[in-house]
Amino acid sequence: MAVQVALDECLSIRDGRLFIEELDADVLARQFGTPITVISEDQLRRNARRYRREFGARWPEGTVAVLASIKANFALATRWILSQEGIGCDVFGGGELYAALQGGVPPDLISVNGSIKSRALLETAVMAGARITLDSAAELDLVREVAGHRGRRATIRFRLRPDFAALTEPTDWYEEPMPIAEAARLYKAGIPTDDVIELGWRALGMPEVDLAGVHAHIGRHTNRTEQWPRIIEAYVGLLARLRDAWGGWAPREINLGGGYPVPRDPFGRGMARLQHRSDHAPSLSEYASVVTTSLRDALGAHDFRADGLRLEIEPGRGMYGDAGIHLATVHNIKLQRTPRLQRWIETDSSDMFLPDVVWEHNRWTAIVTTKADREATTVADVVGLTCQPDRIVPDALLPDVAIGDTIAVLDTGAYQDGLASNFNALPRPGMVLVSGSGAEWIKRSETITDVFARDLVPDRLRRPATTTPR
Ligand SMILES: Cc1ncc(COP(=O)(O)O)c(C=O)c1O
Repeated sequence: MAVQVALDECLSIRDGRLFIEELDADVLARQFGTPITVISEDQLRRNARRYRREFGARWPEGTVAVLASIKANFALATRWILSQEGIGCDVFGGGELYAALQGGVPPDLISVNGSIKSRALLETAVMAGARITLDSAAELDLVREVAGHRGRRATIRFRLRPDFAALTEPTDWYEEPMPIAEAARLYKAGIPTDDVIELGWRALGMPEVDLAGVHAHIGRHTNRTEQWPRIIEAYVGLLARLRDAWGGWAPREINLGGGYPVPRDPFGRGMARLQHRSDHAPSLSEYASVVTTSLRDALGAHDFRADGLRLEIEPGRGMYGDAGIHLATVHNIKLQRTPRLQRWIETDSSDMFLPDVVWEHNRWTAIVTTKADREATTVADVVGLTCQPDRIVPDALLPDVAIGDTIAVLDTGAYQDGLASNFNALPRPGMVLVSGSGAEWIKRSETITDVFARDLVPDRLRRPATTTPR
């Protein structure tokens, strides 16, 4: 009788071996090669349904649109899965809008966010009928021009920059404690409040645009739910000022952005300050409850009607994070005895493929896939191929590791593939989709030829040197 322990909804340990859905992770590593990212289709669908269910049930006043942040994973196949689940999309820039449209997202469920939008991007967005979330005064004139030229009416929203002064606790982004309010002030996104009042007046007088609502994304600063009532109060407080300035205008839609953590939250735990924080974030039900209740309360306190209001959320990491694992093979084990004991588990992957170990100080769970039930006896750095220190999981607690073992790094389905670089001319890993007991490529691994595919060497440089260099 096989011994089976569930790690979560898609990962389990069966007779000591890590499984993702019905597949043995070690077998996958050997079949597809490493390094690779493996995505669980079931988990992605479950997450999609959970976001829709948890927020939808708590916002009976109007509709809920879940616009998953495509930057977190822009593989077209994962996007099609979410499109089948009725999930929309937050996009940033022309590439992501392309991915959303190629990935089957209905334009009504696309929010084109981000700063520095080009005319070409606005043309595509206006023609597709996507919502456009403006980030500066200059963008209003540009979108008006494009819409007028194309004979379309553009649906726009303003991205706001409320002062989140009440958020005094430190953000998880930096080792040196910095209040969330300060981090939010430094973050460039959104229209400065001084500009937005005048901008609203202008927009409301333009037949080419329909100012449908507002947007604000502060991001994941801590995984605690306590910050949400203060975020939402700051946001709705600003909205009330705008309503008063704009002759009673009220939004039909409010977008609260993303920032929902991965359940087994790796963020910030690589920093000394947060290393002892529990790796378990509050449940999505708790977030949905706090967010919708705070929104309802804040709207009521500022005399807004919530009836018919479309609530939009943009989960990125929370949607994709725990649907993915990264697999690497151990190529060497190196031990230093003096002056200090140091052990390196050298793999064929890299922090260049898992960059949030640096950016977000992530501390991921690493599992030796065929020894998943063994006691941890070793502390070692799981390291990668590049010339950098390349610590993928510093001070990992592992069982006795051997050359040839496969190491799985959990919760890596969000952001890592999109952030991966070709440093040291490394070909980036591909992505495999697991569905039950089936697995298939959804993004092939790069080859060295791919890495150099954009290079152009002028003919004159290929000629042998005619003079001896000095
Ligand atoms: C506008 C916007 N929405 C949503 C997200 C997703 O954030 P998260 O992955 O923290 O949910 C981001 C990420 O930076 C963003 O910029």
